[in-house]
Amino acid sequence: MSEKLPGNTEEAASVAAELRKEINYHSQRYYVEDAPEITDAQFDVLMRRLLQIETLFPEVTTADSPTQKVGAQPAAGFGPMAHPTPMFSLGNAFSREDLRAFDARVRGGLDGLPVEYVVEHKIDGLAINLIFENGRLVRSATRGDGQVGEDVSANVRTIKSLPHRLQDAPPFLEVRGEVYMPRKEFERLNAAREAAGETLFANPRNAAAGSLRQLDACVTAERALDIFVYGIGAREGIALSSHSDTLNYLAKLGLKVNTNFQIFTEIEAVADYCESWMERRSTLGYDIDGLVIKLNSLEGQRRLGFTAKDPRWAIAYKFPAEQAVTRVEDIFVRVGRTGVLTPTAILQPVRLAGTTVSRATLHNEDFIKEKDIRIGDAVVIHKAGEIIPEVIRSLSEQRTGTETIFTLPAECPECGQQVVRQVGESAHKCINPGCPAQQREGLFHFVSRDAMNIDGLGPAVVTAMLESGLVTDAADLYSVTAEKLSKLERMGVKSAANVQAAIAASKGAGLSRLLFALGIRFVGVKAAGQLARHFGDIEKVKEASFEELTAIDEIGPKIAESVVAYFASEDNLELIEKLHRAGVKLTEEKPDETNVPLAGKTFVLTGTLPTLTRSEATARIEAAGGKVAGSVSKKTHYVVAGEEAGSKLDKARQLGIPILDEQELLLLLQTDTTVV
Ligand code: IVH
Repeated sequence: MSEKLPGNTEEAASVAAELRKEINYHSQRYYVEDAPEITDAQFDVLMRRLLQIETLFPEVTTADSPTQKVGAQPAAGFGPMAHPTPMFSLGNAFSREDLRAFDARVRGGLDGLPVEYVVEHKIDGLAINLIFENGRLVRSATRGDGQVGEDVSANVRTIKSLPHRLQDAPPFLEVRGEVYMPRKEFERLNAAREAAGETLFANPRNAAAGSLRQLDACVTAERALDIFVYGIGAREGIALSSHSDTLNYLAKLGLKVNTNFQIFTEIEAVADYCESWMERRSTLGYDIDGLVIKLNSLEGQRRLGFTAKDPRWAIAYKFPAEQAVTRVEDIFVRVGRTGVLTPTAILQPVRLAGTTVSRATLHNEDFIKEKDIRIGDAVVIHKAGEIIPEVIRSLSEQRTGTETIFTLPAECPECGQQVVRQVGESAHKCINPGCPAQQREGLFHFVSRDAMNIDGLGPAVVTAMLESGLVTDAADLYSVTAEKLSKLERMGVKSAANVQAAIAASKGAGLSRLLFALGIRFVGVKAAGQLARHFGDIEKVKEASFEELTAIDEIGPKIAESVVAYFASEDNLELIEKLHRAGVKLTEEKPDETNVPLAGKTFVLTGTLPTLTRSEATARIEAAGGKVAGSVSKKTHYVVAGEEAGSKLDKARQLGIPILDEQELLLLLQTDTTVV
C-alpha cells in the first residue's frame, strides 16, 4: 500500500476501507485466535495511517471503524462480563517529539497548573479487570471491546501472586492490571512444548494470552502467570488524590504493584527515562514494550477526560519495533575459520529497529528444522540491541506450495570434502584443515582491526594473496615483499609498499592482539587481554595448566580448556615458532601497577568513535586499570561519546557525568592526572 496520503474524499474512503479490512483481519488474529501474523509495530502503523486519513477526511469515518473501538469482541467459550466502568486503551508516542506534543496538550488543557507525570513500565501482557467486593475477588475479565470482556475468573484465580482476599479493603473496588508470563516461565513452557512436539509460542505475551484463555483452568494453573496492577476503575468508600497514591494504596492492599515507577515534572526528563529503559529492558524478568506516562493528579485527569478511545491524561511511549515480517529469498552456507558451516537466510530487505535487514543467521541445521524454515517462507525476524537479527518463526499458514525445504550439503561447499557432525554438537563441520575457506577466514580474522590491525589488507587482497600462493598461513604474511604484492591484480606499487609497511608494523602489536588473532576458540578480545596481562609472554601461556588459567579473573573452564588444547597442537606450536622467527612480538609489557591512571574508574561507551572500535577502546581502558560498563548510572565516572550517541549520552547529561570524546579519552589514557 502506498504511503502517500489520499488526495480527495473518494480516494480516502477507498484507502480507509482497505485499511479497516486489513486491521480487522489482524485484530481477529491477535485478540481472538492468539496467532498474530504481523508485529505490534506493523499493526500500529496501519492504525496510525487509518487515524491520519480519518482525521484529514472525517467524512469517511464509519461507526464500526477500528479507530472507534478498543479491541475485539469477546470470544465464544467464556461468558461475557460487562465492565462496571469502561476499559480504555492508550494513545501511542514513538518519539521525543510525540511526547512533547502530548505534554503541550496536557499543559494546554490544565491552564498552566503545575504538572507531574508518573512513568511506569508498559507490561507486555493482557489487560485484566479485577472486581473485589468487601475485599473478596469475585470476578475477573479480559478487556474485550472495552465495554464487555471475557469472564476468565477461574483462570485468574490460579495466579499465585494475586490475593483472593484484600486487607482493609473498601466495599467495592475495580482494579486494573496486566497479566503476563515471566520470561523464565515462557522459556520453560516453550521447552516443554518443543519436547512434546507442540507448536511454540512466539513471545511471552502470546503465551500469557493463550494460557489465560484456556477453557480448563488446570492448564492455566500449570503455567505460572503473574500480574502487576496499575490502576483503579470504579470504587466505593475511598478517596485518593493522585496516581502515585493509588499505586501505594494498591500495594498496601496486598496487590502486586510494579515498583519501577518514577515521578517527573519535565517532559524531557520523562523522555530520557523512557529511552534509558530501551537498553535496560532486557535485564528485566518480564517483557515491556514501552512505558506509560500518566498525569499524577486525579483532579487533572478528570479535567482532561477521554477521547472516544483513549485518556487525554496518559500516553504509551512505545519502543521501536524489534520484530518484523519478511520473506526468505534464499539460504546460503558459509564456512567459518573453524570449519563450521553456518546457514544464512537472504531476506527481502526490511526495516527493523532502525536499520535495514537483509540477512539473518540460521545457526545450524537443527535450528532450521525446528522452526521449519523453508526458502520462500514468510518469517518473523527479531533483533534485540546490537545482536544479529534472528528468525523467530516461519509463517507456515502463508505457504503457497512453492517453498523449498533446505538441507545442509553433505560436502563442504568450498573444498568438496566430507562434512561431519560430531556427537553432541549441533554444528556441521568441514574437517579438512587445508580447506581454503578455513584458511581464508582465519587470515581475515588475523589481519582484522581488533586482531593484528593490518591496514589495507582487506578480504580482497587476502584472497588474492592466498589464490596466487603468496601465503598459506598468517606467518607467511611477514615474508611477503612489496614487489611480490605489487604483482597482484589491482595492486599498484604504492599501495603494495603501504600494505607491506602495515604488515611489518603489526609485528609489534603485542601479545594481547596476537592471542586474539590466533583465533583460539572462545578467546575474544577481553580474554586475550587478560591472558596477555597475566602472563606477559606466550611461552608462559603455552605452559599454563587448566588450573592456572581458571584462576585468572574472567577466564572460565571453557576458555581454559580451549587454550590448553590450542597449545597442545603441534601445528599451532609450529605456527607460533614461525611467527617468532618472522620477528612478531610474542610478549606484552606487564601493566605497571603504579601507573594505572584509570584504576577504580568506570566508563560507558556510546556511539561510534572516530578511530577506535568499541573493543579497542575497552581493551585500552582496561589496560589502564579502568572498567567498562554497559549502562550509565550514578556510579559511572565518564561517558565516552562518539557519533550517533544515543540515550546513554542524554542520561550522562542528566546525571552530570563528564562526557569525553575520543581525543579526551586518549589523553586520559596517557596521563595519570584526571581531566575534566
Ligand atoms: S494504563 C486508561 N498502565 O497497555 C489507562 N496500561 O496500550 C489504560 N499496559 O490496555 C491503561 N502496562 O493492557 C496502563 N502500566 C500500565 C500498563 C498498561 C501495560 C497495557 C494495558 C493497556 C495497554 C494500552
